[in-house]
Amino acid sequence: GRIERYPRLRIAAVDEIDVGETVEFEYPLDGSGNFLTRLTEDADAGVGPEEGIVAFSNLCTHMGCAVSGNVDAERGTAGPCPCHYTSFDLSKGGLVVVGPATTDLPQVRLDVADGDVFATGMDGLVHGRRNNLA
Ligand code: FES
Repeated sequence: GRIERYPRLRIAAVDEIDVGETVEFEYPLDGSGNFLTRLTEDADAGVGPEEGIVAFSNLCTHMGCAVSGNVDAERGTAGPCPCHYTSFDLSKGGLVVVGPATTDLPQVRLDVADGDVFATGMDGLVHGRRNNLA
């Protein structure tokens, strides 16, 4: 599929998201996996309580393995990636902390309205794509 611009997608109610919990969702296209989580401390572009709710592509920027299985809310990291051990800093826009990936993890832009968290866009190119919208 192909879309013209980033849609606005409800992901979850803010008060349903506990620290360390992950919520998986597809955005902006079906099949583009992401995860949302809540960190213990504030994060760049975080929303909600302590501005700790963030969301990122679930596809490691190295070779596309899923990183949401190893989210650490206290450290604010995703990883080590199960394939080649890259870790990403979820409080700093998905910055590579250590490992072979050379590109930061794409971050989903979030917005809160009426107690719900919405995805509104994405910063960074999702692994394996030339364009996040096509
Ligand atoms: Fe994640 Fe290689 S796919 S480190």
